[in-house]
Amino acid sequence: VPLAHAAYDVIIGEGLLADLPQLLERRCPASRYAIIADSHVAPLYAERVAATLAAKAPVTMAVFPAGEWNKTRESWGALTDQLLKAGIGRDGAILAVGGGVAGDLAGFVAATYLRGIPYVQVPTTLLAMIDSSVGGKAGVDTPAGKNLVGTFHQPKAVIADTATLATLPKAQLVAGMAEALKHGAITDRSYFERLLGLRERILDKNPDALVEVVRRSVEIKARVVVEDEREQGRRATLNFGHTVGHALEAAVGYALLHGEGVAIGMAIEAAIGVSLGITDRTDAATLRSAIERFGLPVEPPDELPFERLLDAMRHDKKARGESVRFSLLSRLGETARGSSGEWTIPVSEGVIRSVFAPGT
Ligand SMILES: NC(=O)c1ccc[n+]([C@@H]2O[C@H](COP(=O)([O-])OP(=O)(O)OC[C@H]3O[C@@H](n4cnc5c(N)ncnc54)[C@H](O)[C@@H]3O)[C@@H](O)[C@H]2O)c1
Ligand SMILES: [Zn+2]
Repeated sequence: VPLAHAAYDVIIGEGLLADLPQLLERRCPASRYAIIADSHVAPLYAERVAATLAAKAPVTMAVFPAGEWNKTRESWGALTDQLLKAGIGRDGAILAVGGGVAGDLAGFVAATYLRGIPYVQVPTTLLAMIDSSVGGKAGVDTPAGKNLVGTFHQPKAVIADTATLATLPKAQLVAGMAEALKHGAITDRSYFERLLGLRERILDKNPDALVEVVRRSVEIKARVVVEDEREQGRRATLNFGHTVGHALEAAVGYALLHGEGVAIGMAIEAAIGVSLGITDRTDAATLRSAIERFGLPVEPPDELPFERLLDAMRHDKKARGESVRFSLLSRLGETARGSSGEWTIPVSEGVIRSVFAPGT
């Protein structure tokens, strides 16, 4: 990720956890390490990582309860207190071992602890490997919505050991594919088509297929992040499917996985694009059927009142004023631009309503 002020490597491969001490030596040397992991990943991988690293430097384990609903200021506070109690100083570094929740939380702890210490992402979900571990967005959810408190803090490295995906439940694996389909849909049609060709091998966790997907998605995400680190423009394209997705996640109290919310969000935002004459109708249908072929949902749970969703979309930090701004597709592989070249397009409440709740 060749950022001028903070370039870093994303290292992808089978079995990398065993090489962690050597991989960290040059990229993130520290006199002590704190490992932040959730309660599922701690016994699966983080304790092993701690044992391998202990020969190099003292290691502190800081564990929080697994689940999106724990990506909160309270968890941030509890983890910070554990690091303070352990006496981690400015010569320390953090390893985020786990999914996107651990990565976002640990990144926010690292960004704020003693005004900022270095950290390394060690993603263990497909979603974290292909998306959340790269780009430096760190933060927590609040009752008002997802990711509303946070900052940018780039990691010193991302080390993605695809062997850890062996224990990942199928639903989590598939949820990660929503972000991969998004990467293809917003910038690279041939990658989108390749994903459909690799579908069975990905679902079987074929090691070569997984490495290929992680690698290509990371290339796409890194390119966008380098162009627009602080989301002044093009980075908003990565939010395709997320304005609706985040609202759904928040409205159902995180009973949907993030990737499931994004899958439904992409289908709905494509339909919004079609109804505005912005998104190609055939491509929107192709996207919808690709999402379904991966076993991901395309319809919101029907008991959700539209007003609640609209409120949630307005609380989303990307929503401003009366209309809600969306990053929309023009066709598969290409994001639509506004009349002055903007990367997001305002959509009125009436149009959103006509797609979400036709006839109301
Ligand atoms: N920072 C960003 O740019 C960015 C981008 C996309 C998503 N996100 C965030 O990422 C989060 C979603 O991440 P996620 O889907 O990885 O969720 P997650 O971190 O909650 O992980 C999902 C579940 O899988 C378990 N798990 C993790 N690795 C495992 C493994 N190898 N084997 C078995 N179980 C394992 C976890 O304990 C958890 O229960 C959301 O909060 C979302 O907002 C952030
Ligand atoms: Zn996402």
